Amino acid sequence: MYRVSTDYLKPGMVLGKAIISDTGTILLNRGVKLTDFYISKLKKLGYDTVFIEDPDTSDIAIEDDINEQTRRKAIQHIRALFNVPISELKNEKKTTINDIKKSIESGRIKEKLANSKILKNIGAISYQIVDEVLDSKILSGLVSFKRYSDFTYKHCVDVTVLAVTLADKFLYDKDKLIELAKGCLLHDIGRVLIDKSLYEEPRKLSKEELETIKTHPTLGYLTLKDIAGIGIISAHIVYQHHEQQNGEGYPRGLKGDNTMPLPRKETKKGYIMPLAEIVYTANVYDALVSPRVYRSAYTPDQAFFIMKRMAGTHINREVLKMMFEVIPAYPLGTTVIISTGKFKNYIAVVSKINRDNLSKPVIRVIFNDRKKRIEPFEIDLSANPHINISGIII
Ligand SMILES: [Fe+2]
Repeated sequence: MYRVSTDYLKPGMVLGKAIISDTGTILLNRGVKLTDFYISKLKKLGYDTVFIEDPDTSDIAIEDDINEQTRRKAIQHIRALFNVPISELKNEKKTTINDIKKSIESGRIKEKLANSKILKNIGAISYQIVDEVLDSKILSGLVSFKRYSDFTYKHCVDVTVLAVTLADKFLYDKDKLIELAKGCLLHDIGRVLIDKSLYEEPRKLSKEELETIKTHPTLGYLTLKDIAGIGIISAHIVYQHHEQQNGEGYPRGLKGDNTMPLPRKETKKGYIMPLAEIVYTANVYDALVSPRVYRSAYTPDQAFFIMKRMAGTHINREVLKMMFEVIPAYPLGTTVIISTGKFKNYIAVVSKINRDNLSKPVIRVIFNDRKKRIEPFEIDLSANPHINISGIII
């Protein structure tokens, strides 16, 4: 199978992977033959790419980094938890951030959360995600099917999978990884307390509106802190997930020193907690490879390029270095275009990842430079360093 833009879908193509909605239900199952109706529905819902089965790439199996059912369950649990503050505050007139803070401090939301089964579910699913991440060998590249919105429950799950993978590489123990997963799944809970239109409308925001958005880590932290079942680490991940190395992040302008020393140091006053630096990095990557109302998704190699420029100032250099070692620049099943040599402009699908050299996979060339199908052949880029490729979405 390989990944295709929904613009290129034709009736009769067969889905290689199920399409899961943002509420965690299956919209279309794998193996479904696409029709005009399905294709226009997918586009309307904002899906930009899907995996399709194809005779020339039928042997390319793209494994999930976590089980599809776990992902769906996680989405449902996050949604249920985010709905608690939404429904608790729905009849209140909230005009300012201070009003919202007062509502949080009144304790009703916390009480409701603490007494609900939902929190236990989040704990259990965090444990399960950590277990599955520790078992899986390589990240599939997190290029699943996204929707036009940067506030999706799926985004929370993808960020969690990447953050846990990175933290494991930095030798955090399992208990910490579970705390991390919990904080990560809930990192954007503060957003549900803010006017939705600020995130979803494609328009330039006023200074005031931007300031409102920047309160979401604080609102999330206030909502979760001191609840039994949410530890201080998880709460601080929520609080610190937009802080940057140069101190220009928000809400508190904490700093980073671009290191990830081992053994673990205590967090210094005024500095970002290392686990939150990992979440920040995972969050930036996932935002880049997801489409937005105003732009298409970046391919992973484009995202890497952008993130390299953010290293040192925004992103912790050590964390980014580790990310390049766990995410392939060209994930399995993605399409690439050859940019040098006699096959210039031919289009290929990544057919095998070289684990020792993630940026030099084996590719299977299936289209010529006029986008005509050809008899497929493979090139191992690690053995042909002069051949360059870049990621594209066809
Ligand atoms: Fe956020």
